[in-house]
Amino acid sequence: MLFIILTAAVILGAAVCFASMNENQNLSLEEYTVVSAKLPEEFDGFKIVFLTDLHCNEFDYQNKALIDMIDGCSPDAVFVGGDMLVSRVDSSYEVALDLMRELSRRYRIYYADGNHEMRLKRNEEVYGVAYKEYVHQLKECGVVHLSNESIMVDSGISAICLTAYDMEEKQYRKFHPAPPSLEEMSDALGDADPEFFQVLLAHNPNYFRQYSKWGCDLVLSGHFHGGMVRLPKIGGVISPQFQLFPKYDAGEYQIGTSIMILSRGLGNHSIKIRLFNRPEVSCITLKKK
Ligand SMILES: [Fe+2]
Repeated sequence: MLFIILTAAVILGAAVCFASMNENQNLSLEEYTVVSAKLPEEFDGFKIVFLTDLHCNEFDYQNKALIDMIDGCSPDAVFVGGDMLVSRVDSSYEVALDLMRELSRRYRIYYADGNHEMRLKRNEEVYGVAYKEYVHQLKECGVVHLSNESIMVDSGISAICLTAYDMEEKQYRKFHPAPPSLEEMSDALGDADPEFFQVLLAHNPNYFRQYSKWGCDLVLSGHFHGGMVRLPKIGGVISPQFQLFPKYDAGEYQIGTSIMILSRGLGNHSIKIRLFNRPEVSCITLKKK
């Protein structure tokens, strides 16, 4: 009996590994349309490709399949939501940098940090100057790297406001994470200007309600990797913060007039399992109401 159970467990484990390896390379394009009366006329039809959580994954040699998919969207800009690398002492960041270099030859790129970049930044005694070098290389190739700051993304005539939120370590804790207060958000980012369509790059989707109160029209998040395994009608099973069946796992959410698009991300680290949860390129079209 024990032999049968062990054999079944080995076969199941092998099947999960095989399916997961396959899925980790099986890109999916998800298209979203965000409609708002606040958008300027010139942004009607503006296309954003949103990339997050690559964790140095590669889709074909030098990410050719990923770049081809992005090219197929013909974006006006590429927004990056962080965690493009893995914060390990022995990790190389070249895969992420190579992708950014290649994309920056074709598109405007705006980059916000995730918890992995922030870990490098906060722990120089462990990672040395890796973060400084990484950001330096990003800037060298023309990527606009944003750290608790805002920039106007313009069309030549009008603009929308893009803000990148450097989330604190306590907001990423596995147990008892602390939501940012409105005051903390305002201290870090200033106040949202209601005159402009406001996009917020906030890596962790957990605090959508706070982001909405702060005044964003569109939040772009990642971090949850779609909940690792996605079950039909239930969704993601577990977040990296060990929340079971997280409220926000993937897709589009709305609170009042704020929309959040939560990508399943492009890669993973530590536990490299994806089931029914293909890596995502998000293509977002803005529509003037
Ligand atoms: Fe993350």
